[in-house]
Amino acid sequence: MGTLLSGRWNRWIVLVAVWMLAAGGLPAVKTAHLTGTFEVDDFFRFLHKFGFQKTEKHSQKDTEWDTFGYIYGNITSRVNLTVPVTLAVLDKRSFLEYYANRNDYDRDVACQRMFEKLDKIVYSRACNPHAEADYLRRIPCEKGKLCVDEDTRENVVPGSQFTFVISDPNVPRFWYVSMVACYQNVSTCQWHHYDYRKFHTDPPSIDYDITLVNGNPNRQTLSLFNPLLFHFSFDQQNTLE
Ligand SMILES: *[C@@H]1O[C@H](CO)[C@@H](O)[C@H](O)[C@H]1NC(C)=O
Ligand SMILES: *[C@@H]1O[C@H](CO)[C@@H](O)[C@H](O)[C@H]1NC(C)=O
Ligand SMILES: *[C@@H]1O[C@H](CO)[C@@H](O)[C@H](O)[C@H]1NC(C)=O
Repeated sequence: MGTLLSGRWNRWIVLVAVWMLAAGGLPAVKTAHLTGTFEVDDFFRFLHKFGFQKTEKHSQKDTEWDTFGYIYGNITSRVNLTVPVTLAVLDKRSFLEYYANRNDYDRDVACQRMFEKLDKIVYSRACNPHAEADYLRRIPCEKGKLCVDEDTRENVVPGSQFTFVISDPNVPRFWYVSMVACYQNVSTCQWHHYDYRKFHTDPPSIDYDITLVNGNPNRQTLSLFNPLLFHFSFDQQNTLE
């Protein structure tokens, strides 16, 4: 008797859950959560490939509604780096050449080649102030503060240090997240290898905690977006093509 009752209850709960999904009661949002440590002497670390798709039909010409992905989080280090290294969030076209050049034996040359094409399209306050693409962050970021490349708090998901907004409504595509021990000298605009041996006795490590969200959580403006309010389903898309 008791087991029959609980069995019925289980079925009832499953049915309600299925009904809620079918009725669109839960937002269709997928996320990936990445945590770990990047040892600067590893030079390059590929973190994730994530597909951002248009998840809903948007009728209005409201750009807010066309936003369909966020990449946000914290990146800190216990050690202060002499110059910051780089977090890159790139679409496939930009990523392939950058990725192919990472293996150059001379790492200064590797850094220069990796960023050669990107330099023409990526915004940099010091070196390319008229470019539009927002693909790079200087890392690590100071604990308790926004990353230096975030000049507007409203553009950053609350409780995080940086945010990339993926908003290209017409072309759903994969984005590739990676870290590399390269820095741009802001007086020469040249890229160089962050050779830790010049600055530290031990290689510094950089801790990251990054969330990738596919879908527009509630179509809210970013400053109101609270990631904890949404039911996220985790998925595995992390393979290099
Ligand atoms: C790193 O730099 C920050 C800001 O300049 C400073 O407050 C902190 O004490 C430094 N940390 C170390 C370990 O030197
Ligand atoms: C991330 O950084 C923000 C701002 O510095 C801080 O409020 C938050 O607690 C940090 N979160 C984690 C998980 O470290
Ligand atoms: C950047 O370049 C200038 C000019 O060549 C040089 O004086 C400076 O030391 C360089 N900075 C770094 C961090 O490499």
